[in-house]
Amino acid sequence: MGIKFYENSRIFKLDTPKSTYMIGIVDEENFIGHIYYGRKVIDADLSYMMRLHGSSDVPTKNSRDRVTFMDSMPMEYPTHGVGDFRESCLSVKDHAGHSACSLSYISHRIYHGKQKLPGLPATFAREDECTTLELICEDKALQLQVTLVYNVFEKLDAITRSVKIYNSSKNPIYLTKVLSACLDMDNRDYDMITLYGLWSRERMINRRRITDGKQLISSLRGVSSHQEQPFMAILDKNADEDHGEVFALNLVYSGNFMAQAEITQFTMLRAVIGINPVDFCWKLDSEESFTSPEAVMVYSNEGIGGMTRTFHDLYRNHLIRGQYKDKKRPILINNWEATYFDFDTDKLLSIAREASKLGIEMLVMDDGWFGYRNDDNTSLGDWVVNESKIKGGLKHLVDEVNKLGMKFGIWFEPEMISPDSDLYRTHPDWAIQIPGRNPALARNQLVLDISRKEVRDAVYDSMYKILSEANIEYVKWDMNRPLTDIAGASLDSDTQGEFYHRYVLGLYEMQERLVSDFPHILLENCSSGGGRFDPGMLYYSPQIWSSDNTDAIDRLRIQEGTAMIYPLSAMGAHVADCPSHSNGRVTPFETRGYVSLAGTFGYELDITKIPEEDRNMIPKQVAMYHKYNDLVRTGDYYRIASYQMNHEYDCYEVVSKDKKEALVTYIQVSGRPNYRTRRIRLKGLKEDAIYRIEETGEELSGGALMYAGINIENMWGDYLGKLIHIVEI
Ligand code: DGJ
Repeated sequence: MGIKFYENSRIFKLDTPKSTYMIGIVDEENFIGHIYYGRKVIDADLSYMMRLHGSSDVPTKNSRDRVTFMDSMPMEYPTHGVGDFRESCLSVKDHAGHSACSLSYISHRIYHGKQKLPGLPATFAREDECTTLELICEDKALQLQVTLVYNVFEKLDAITRSVKIYNSSKNPIYLTKVLSACLDMDNRDYDMITLYGLWSRERMINRRRITDGKQLISSLRGVSSHQEQPFMAILDKNADEDHGEVFALNLVYSGNFMAQAEITQFTMLRAVIGINPVDFCWKLDSEESFTSPEAVMVYSNEGIGGMTRTFHDLYRNHLIRGQYKDKKRPILINNWEATYFDFDTDKLLSIAREASKLGIEMLVMDDGWFGYRNDDNTSLGDWVVNESKIKGGLKHLVDEVNKLGMKFGIWFEPEMISPDSDLYRTHPDWAIQIPGRNPALARNQLVLDISRKEVRDAVYDSMYKILSEANIEYVKWDMNRPLTDIAGASLDSDTQGEFYHRYVLGLYEMQERLVSDFPHILLENCSSGGGRFDPGMLYYSPQIWSSDNTDAIDRLRIQEGTAMIYPLSAMGAHVADCPSHSNGRVTPFETRGYVSLAGTFGYELDITKIPEEDRNMIPKQVAMYHKYNDLVRTGDYYRIASYQMNHEYDCYEVVSKDKKEALVTYIQVSGRPNYRTRRIRLKGLKEDAIYRIEETGEELSGGALMYAGINIENMWGDYLGKLIHIVEI
């Protein structure tokens, strides 16, 4: 059992294999104090960490200095308006218009397993995999019950948190801010890592010192966004890939969020994460509940790499669901970069015919098959097959593809509506817009108000019809613009602040329906590339399209940032055309294959037009995928060198869980003739085991491979790549 309650000291101790998290109930007023989070300790009481100096500093003994206490005590879930001037997690507006809130511990529950969060994605675990602590707290004046939930994983250094709020008063209470987690820590001169970006450059790694004041990352785009990830790692300033302490927060949510690190006046560090409070206001009527999204906390004392491997294990085993959870995915070919909107049945079948001969397993028909959509100006919402393009109908096309021995997948953008569409002409009010204002267009489209059930039902029904019409085994769910002009037609003036969150709940409901009604379908989420690559989406789709940037070299950076949190099995990655449609770069076909191998693997090019020698390489790449994908999907990921940092080469390794096999990918980004060889040191092997390097037949111990390393030779030229496969003998 990972959770212990010490009754005399009123301390809760949460233990994972290598970390301890400690909570204390303080003073007669029952404040919920944060005592410790860090490397595992055997002690039952570290309450000296709270610096309360006996009991003289607590409000019941020294009410004269209550504010000093409130503003310095390390809190588990700080509230607004009663003396803690640091960032709060909870603030309200009561029926009198007051915003203060204050929590006292009432009781607790400890149990095996983990409950679902209503309507929200969350990690899951069996009773023997996880223990839960629920701290039931109350604001007596407001008659508001707040339950802080902690789920402690038995075999992973991960604790997940969420918050349930229940209004037991007779009046509505407006929740103006509900964050999911707070971490009050001593400021030990930490750095922070966040992942920032933009379209086509998602999840760039940003490491910087945490300095005085507040360092905020957030999204107000209605999606988690290309620009910031709902993720923050706080790490020792000397921590690197393999050493040092790292404390990471990741929010299982796909909408507006905030994550913030703040150095407070007494040089403490407060980190918080949750739904962005900007434009958020939830009306909680009497006897109603609200549940926050789940925040994941990961601890590592093995540097960034240790954090990464914990996230990968947690998400692979306790977040991703469905029949493809632990399965190899079909190698797909997507027609987007091959044809854009200019395709018909014949064109798609010509691609499928060629692809099937080379071992590709699925054809995905991207944007442009419905309504009158021959460019991106029309028809979103009209999910009716355009038979002038898809001649003979969808079933005919799918049957023909199936006859070639291939599966068939299809693209949708269910949340959108084009002003030039039958749907808009019938239901203009279904588009999100503020009455009296012209809503802003992006890619010439508007967003459907999927917070409304009738809108969700109508869109879902039209998707359902298409998916039932033919043997469709994959869906790419795209979303190509942010939300603006927020107004909920079904919401009153005092509930407009619920819109963004209701939109996300609507999205989750639709995807839950899709995966329940069509459990055999492989769902891939996408948002203008990787604009909604977050743990919330992973709960519904085991893979997410990483970026519209398909250039192999730019992808190295995008995939490095993505793989810092998310498993390789989830990273949509394709071999694309050259010169790259993203940046004009020409890279060897072979290298493009190596880079895509680190993700789901597939193709995004006109296979009927690429050079003969590239086409001839495909069966070899297909074989390589089949040979290595089990290892890549399930193994431990180690970063050996980062092209983002060294600007010359990239190198990463996947080691099987039993450490009997490893695959190293090396990409020489800029050829340097003055280097005859480059030394690479492997990681994660058994020191005393002997491994054979498949390519050279050399036999070396794990120790030699890790500490002496191996030489990468004959890499004269830019953009060359190499795989090194080692197996224990
Ligand atoms: C954005 C996606 O990221 C692309 O892969 C493609 O599906 C286009 N949308 C289609 O409009």
